Amino acid sequence: MNKDIEKICLRKKTIAAGVRRAAHWLDQQLCGCAKTPLFIAVLKGSVIFFCDLVRAMKTPVQMSFMTVSSYGSGTESSGVPKITTDLSVDVAGRDVVLIEDIVDSGHTLLALKTFFEQRGVTSFRTVTLLDKPSRRKIPINADYSCFKIGDEFIVGYGLDYNEMHRTLPYIGILKKDIHIGTK
Ligand code: IMP
Ligand code: MG
Repeated sequence: MNKDIEKICLRKKTIAAGVRRAAHWLDQQLCGCAKTPLFIAVLKGSVIFFCDLVRAMKTPVQMSFMTVSSYGSGTESSGVPKITTDLSVDVAGRDVVLIEDIVDSGHTLLALKTFFEQRGVTSFRTVTLLDKPSRRKIPINADYSCFKIGDEFIVGYGLDYNEMHRTLPYIGILKKDIHIGTK
């Protein structure tokens, strides 16, 4: 186990099973769509989940990417997410599925939902790998969440701390002395 990790909370096999369940749910949800659904990964945290998820699905999908920064100058969330890399495709009239790494305060999810609804999508669904319901500041939930976790700062399988630990194959709780005072 990595020296910065306190405890593993989701192992590789557990994550893979959660990804398969989400893929099955999405296949069922999207089977009536007239056009190919457009899947959008919120970079960078969701990218590993995104790649595994679209390959576990039977439905063919188109892929696009956007970057959203929820941090101000420090490590605490500013509460005002900024879209720092916009989409290169027109989403009007599309069935959009947004893939998130984690829903924490809910600020990012609300900002993205508002953004897509203003752009005239046919349908909009959100799928998150992780959900921290006890941290919510905005009453909003993803349509599908693979795993609920407690109020711990976690890394791995795409999620980072200061750009570190994204490539860990498991999701683990970061040692407190490493992230003290951060979100
Ligand atoms: P929000 O607070 O729901 O807007 O979440 C904002 C973003 O904070 C998420 O998309 C993650 O990138 C990041 N985040 C929240 N909790 C964690 C965590 O435990 N580990 C790593 N990143 C996190
Ligand atoms: Mg994120």
